[in-house]
Amino acid sequence: LASNPLRPVILAAAKSSRVRALITAAPPTRRLVDRFVAGDTRADALAATKALLDTGRSVSIDHLGEDTTDRAQARAIVAEYEALIADLAPSAGTGAPVPAVEVSVKLTALGLALGAEGPAVALGHARQICAAAAEAGVWVTVDAEDHTTTDATLSIVRRLREDYPWVGAVLQAYLHRTEADCRELSGPGSRVRLCKGAYREPASVAYQDAAEVNASYLRCLRVLMAGQGYPMVASHDPAIVAAVDPLAAEHARGPDGFEHQMLYGIRDLEQRRLADAGYRMRVYVPYGAQWYGYLMRRLAERPSNLKFFLRSVVSR
Ligand code: FDA
Repeated sequence: LASNPLRPVILAAAKSSRVRALITAAPPTRRLVDRFVAGDTRADALAATKALLDTGRSVSIDHLGEDTTDRAQARAIVAEYEALIADLAPSAGTGAPVPAVEVSVKLTALGLALGAEGPAVALGHARQICAAAAEAGVWVTVDAEDHTTTDATLSIVRRLREDYPWVGAVLQAYLHRTEADCRELSGPGSRVRLCKGAYREPASVAYQDAAEVNASYLRCLRVLMAGQGYPMVASHDPAIVAAVDPLAAEHARGPDGFEHQMLYGIRDLEQRRLADAGYRMRVYVPYGAQWYGYLMRRLAERPSNLKFFLRSVVSR
């Protein structure tokens, strides 16, 4: 993660329009996208969902999109989520009391960055999605984006939880503030997805060294496990996965008292192993044509993904 020297370079290059054009036009890209993204359409996401549910896993589906620049685009994203939630409704009862199907949303996709009005626009759109989800029995978790959005995101989550107490938040262990946020969000009924964090952040707000991020993750996880909420352990890291059982036992949590989460296409065998062993294992399933930012964050996490991609470009 953070000690990977290529990570900041890849995340910075990802913002260049020339790099974007090169990556999206390169023929091997599709193969790489298919590894991490369920497909361009809702039907693709539903097919991936069915396969995951059939193997005892739960899902959280993300319609890819971020940095929405106008209201019409944000409204189209809300409409897509409403259609997705309606399609998921028949599976909503699976896994009760914690639904096996959930959706994840990014507030910048819903309009958070639309100037001074952005937070109100994003809140209104998120409410619309939560209302549809409440009717269908599907849950919603709000993704964490870069640190400039953290305060606005957490305050929107707080507002949403007044009406929809099952709304989940995502916290990023690489941020210095997160241990305190975990304390604040560890009350009854609170659902927190704890991840390491995938954006390029300055040293003023985030740990830069992988060992420090891991240590922060474990401190945060301890706070969540000791709290009264429902921890969602979003990591593929074997050391984190191994830390979960002892912490859960220490705080008298059975397998219903937390869940493991991983990304679509990453450590599939480990996902199956955990599901088969009786843990709730939720897979984050992204779909849609706006896969660029998501793909670049996955490449930055693991240079071997980038090498695989570059090798296939060069060897054509
Ligand atoms: P780490 O990066 O140390 O990886 C540990 C091991 O996992 C690797 O050695 C490898 O085996 C495997 N692995 C990890 N990444 C891989 C990759 N890209 N390709 C192949 N193998 C890989 N971030 C964020 O900022 N905001 C968010 O809202 C979310 N949401 C989210 C939801 C869920 C369910 C998950 C699992 C993750 C996120 N993330 C996220 C991403 C998260 O912050 C982090 O960047 C990645 O999960 C990678 O960190 P790990 O904890 O897996 O450890």
